[in-house]
Amino acid sequence: MIRVPIARPRMPAAEALLPYLQQIDAHRSYTNFGPLVSELEHRLADRLGVDSQHVVTVSNATAGLTLALQSITAERPGVCLIPSWTFVATAHAVMAAGLTPFLVDVDEASWAMTPAIALEAVARIDAPIAAVMPVAPFGAPIDIAAWDRFTALTGIPAVIDAAAGHDRVTAGDTPSVVSLHATKILGAGEGGYVVCRRPDLIIAIKRRSNFGFYGSRNAEVSACNAKMSEYHAAVGLASMDAYSADSAQFRAVAQAYRNRLTGNRDIALQPGFGTDWIGSVCVARFSGHDSKAIAARLSEAEIDSRAWWGDGVHNQTAFSDLPRLTLFRTELLARETIGLPFFVDMSEQDIARVCDALDAIAHARLRRAA
Ligand SMILES: Cc1ncc(COP(=O)(O)O)c(C=O)c1O
Repeated sequence: MIRVPIARPRMPAAEALLPYLQQIDAHRSYTNFGPLVSELEHRLADRLGVDSQHVVTVSNATAGLTLALQSITAERPGVCLIPSWTFVATAHAVMAAGLTPFLVDVDEASWAMTPAIALEAVARIDAPIAAVMPVAPFGAPIDIAAWDRFTALTGIPAVIDAAAGHDRVTAGDTPSVVSLHATKILGAGEGGYVVCRRPDLIIAIKRRSNFGFYGSRNAEVSACNAKMSEYHAAVGLASMDAYSADSAQFRAVAQAYRNRLTGNRDIALQPGFGTDWIGSVCVARFSGHDSKAIAARLSEAEIDSRAWWGDGVHNQTAFSDLPRLTLFRTELLARETIGLPFFVDMSEQDIARVCDALDAIAHARLRRAA
């Protein structure tokens, strides 16, 4: 039996890239904010309903998060609140910005750090809080206006880690950072973008992505090279051409999972996944059950699964000493959730195989309990 893989990313084919690559040949401009990067930023801005001065591309979302944090804090030291229920890149980006990640818990229903959770943490933490970084869990939308209000109320700036959130990201005064990694719903191979209604912040991020230069060759601030190349922009543009068809296909796979799993009361998909929003991973929650045991049973049935965020950031070696509040709901989600196979052209047979295996696991459990 052929194993069902966890993911099978599909980027634009060579013939879809060719017209863009030919433009690069004609322009002989290969990076440094060339015409294709500019076109990509314009198209992203159109999609987001903002002006292109509100969007900047970056080489990847991790770098974008670091540069956005450095820009909003003006490099003041302190801690940055992040949920422990996230991918390690969130914590790495905070460290690279010269801040200490302070781990807090998430809301059980949305799987996200909410403004209410952050406000409670602010009241309990003695250290200076330089920033907060909420995460859009696996691409689920974040209430950006609520974070704009949080900053207005507390004076603490926020950056949204919306790495997987291209489908439903919206522009606020708070910057949101989206990944264009090949495994994401919109891919450029590697890449990312930042969207924010404050053009001054977009300029600050752009400056920090380009050696500190903006309009001159004077390095005005500490910086790095995090520019997107024209080649990556070519792939991003071709991906945008295919986005409505690709995202519809992803939604159809999500919907097929949803329909097929409704009879299995052990399993819940993320709220709104495949109906209100779509991402490139499908994470299921098995309430009251140990997802590691389910992963082992799936593996016996030749089906891959993945604990995309492991046991939370606090259980990663590099971050085990970070300051934290209690993380009960992070622990719970780490215990009860698992990423199921999910890809754009997943066949009905593969979906049925995964769901049949999950049904068999549930039946075996019921028999044992009887
Ligand atoms: C929550 C989160 N933040 C940040 C990143 C990093 O994105 P990139 O690979 O573009 O640096 C990822 C990547 O998967 C992610 O899931």
